[in-house]
Amino acid sequence: MTSQLSPDIAFMTRFRSVNDNAEAELNRARDTASLEAWRIKYLGRRGQLSELTQQLGKLTLDQRRDWGPLVNNVKSTLEAKFAAAQNALERQAADAKLASDQLDVTLPGRPVTLGRLHPVTQMVREICAAFTSMGFDVVEGPEVEWERYNFDLLNIPRDHPARDMWDTLWIDWTDPTPEGRRMLLRTHTSPMQGRIMEKAKPPIRVIVPGKVFRHEATDARHEWHFYQVEGLAVDKDITFADLKGTLYEFARRIFGADRRIRFRCDYFPFVEPGVDVSVDCFICKGTGVMSNGHGCRVCSATGWLEIMGAGMVHPNVFKAVGYDPEEYTGFAFGMGPERIAMLKYGIDDIRHFYANDVRFLRQF
Ligand code: DAH
Repeated sequence: MTSQLSPDIAFMTRFRSVNDNAEAELNRARDTASLEAWRIKYLGRRGQLSELTQQLGKLTLDQRRDWGPLVNNVKSTLEAKFAAAQNALERQAADAKLASDQLDVTLPGRPVTLGRLHPVTQMVREICAAFTSMGFDVVEGPEVEWERYNFDLLNIPRDHPARDMWDTLWIDWTDPTPEGRRMLLRTHTSPMQGRIMEKAKPPIRVIVPGKVFRHEATDARHEWHFYQVEGLAVDKDITFADLKGTLYEFARRIFGADRRIRFRCDYFPFVEPGVDVSVDCFICKGTGVMSNGHGCRVCSATGWLEIMGAGMVHPNVFKAVGYDPEEYTGFAFGMGPERIAMLKYGIDDIRHFYANDVRFLRQF
């Protein structure tokens, strides 16, 4: 019992136990929390070493001279060891962080997703390329159009029943001049025929890609907005044979060299005669029957795919733009790139093009 021992023996015992315990506990402290607890316990203001220093006061002067330096010595040794332990812990933490942050340059990289052209853009470009290589120029025109270009100049006067061929989205604005001209979203690319002929003199060979709009409910075959590519060739002595040859060559470039082409009478107010143009089905080779004996699904077993409307420019269209129909002749045609892409790639619903589903878009 310390109380029964002489003060210096008691001090010595306490000194030893503090010293031994301090070292042992410091060696066991493995994290910042236990290290800090250790510091408070031994080196803190009320820690065991200050307590020892206070105890010194109870000793004689001689004893104090002996013990004093020893206590100081132990204190600075413990302080040094504490600092070393703290350093080691910090370094360990830093090493661990470095190790966990490390970049493994041998891991396979994440592929960069590349953008691509929309399938309709690709189709429009392919169609344009087929015609530019035959000497046609590409021109574009406005999507918001006057009814004069969309209808009047194209031999479709106001109140003519042929206007019903195009369900029109009208713009809620009328020219305040006496003519009171109305605006609309163009229902086809044909209005560019008038715009071009008003400005230029023959020879003309142009194609017009662009967006068109219809006041229509959508289903697998109809969109209310879609693309068209219009064609127009005007010169002296252009005949129906030129139209046939040009469109035959076009069909071969898009659908393959062994394609045949068919023209049937059709009505469009701005051409006479007017035709619809078909290519023989590239799936069943025009037989209407697939190799497994079933009827061909792409051409509905008809052997033919309708790809566009066309015809010889109507004399009234020439007159409307100030051309002499006795001097000039020409042909025109109009097609839907979505429809051509659908036929070419076996797409069964036009709405896929505008649903923005990358699973669809990525396939092209
Ligand atoms: N503009 C017509 C349409 O929408 C397509 C067309 C037919 C254009 C015959 C022409 C043509 O140039 O000659 O539906």
